[in-house]
Amino acid sequence: MQEKLLTLKETALNDIREVSSIEEVENLRINYLGKKGEITSILKEMGKLSKEERPVIGKVANEVREALEEAISSKKDELKTIEKNKKLKEEVIDVTMPSKKIRVGKLHPISQIIDEVSEIFIGMGFSIAEGPEVETVENNFDALNAPKDHPSRDMSDTFYVNSELLLRTQTSPVQIRTMKNNELPIKIISPGRCFRFDAPDATHSPMFHQIEGLVVGKDITMAQLKGTLNTFVKKLFGENTKTKFRPHNFPFTEPSAEVDVTCFKCEGKGCSMCKGEGWIEILGAGMVHPNVLRNCGIDPNVYSGFAFGMGVDRITMLKYEIDDIRLLFENNMRFLEQF
Ligand code: DAH
Repeated sequence: MQEKLLTLKETALNDIREVSSIEEVENLRINYLGKKGEITSILKEMGKLSKEERPVIGKVANEVREALEEAISSKKDELKTIEKNKKLKEEVIDVTMPSKKIRVGKLHPISQIIDEVSEIFIGMGFSIAEGPEVETVENNFDALNAPKDHPSRDMSDTFYVNSELLLRTQTSPVQIRTMKNNELPIKIISPGRCFRFDAPDATHSPMFHQIEGLVVGKDITMAQLKGTLNTFVKKLFGENTKTKFRPHNFPFTEPSAEVDVTCFKCEGKGCSMCKGEGWIEILGAGMVHPNVLRNCGIDPNVYSGFAFGMGVDRITMLKYEIDDIRLLFENNMRFLEQF
């Protein structure tokens, strides 16, 4: 029996040495050491042995088992290392290969100006209000005190969806929504897209951007409107910028004004940017008309307000010296990347 065990050991060690995959090693382990394996079947015959022989054979059997176990585990380790090295070799990274270029985007110049203007007003305690681009005729014209025969209502000036809905022609309807839905006092700006039935040329685009401003409360005055806008233009165009209020007419404000700023390129001397005027028009403003307050359920005898609206595209073009509004909407990356 001892003989049998020793021969088994030799054959098994040989077999283990020969194999080249972990799976094969595992099969050998089951064959030799498993419950139904060869060592077990030899040991089953131990009963036939004499009392003196049993411990001797038992010892040999244990030694053989240990030898095989060790051989199997070191073979497994060896194969694992080989596999790992192979994998490392296959997955080696060629750091000299050219990489894929990732294009990093940036904010559109219009978004940059909207952010910049918003930051300035947020700094003065304003919050941001938003309204839909498809508006009611009521909010865009009627509640804003626009007379029934106002030219801007014409089909040739406004994109109508139907008789009650249109693409808003200005951000001013956000004033109506804000006054109808909020407690007083109100202090908001509202940036957004507007639409007018205009043929595109260097200064017109059927889609453009405005920022509306509205302050309503007790004792709101024209002096506060002037102070607010003076602070704003100094922050946006520079400390030396001055404003000039020219009388104008808007249906939703009384009195109304158009506001010019001193040209930030020549500081008022006159240059090509301001067409020799020294002044550049940038927004409309005024004291909220009592009818507009009344339309929103606010008593004009107790409350007052000021409002303003500016063209974002125009300010962007002035700031970056862009001479054609269409360039802003053609999405030519080579153009947009400059800003
Ligand atoms: N909504 C006017 C426009 O599109 C701009 C404007 C002027 C807005 C005066 C105002 C304002 O709030 O008070 O031309």
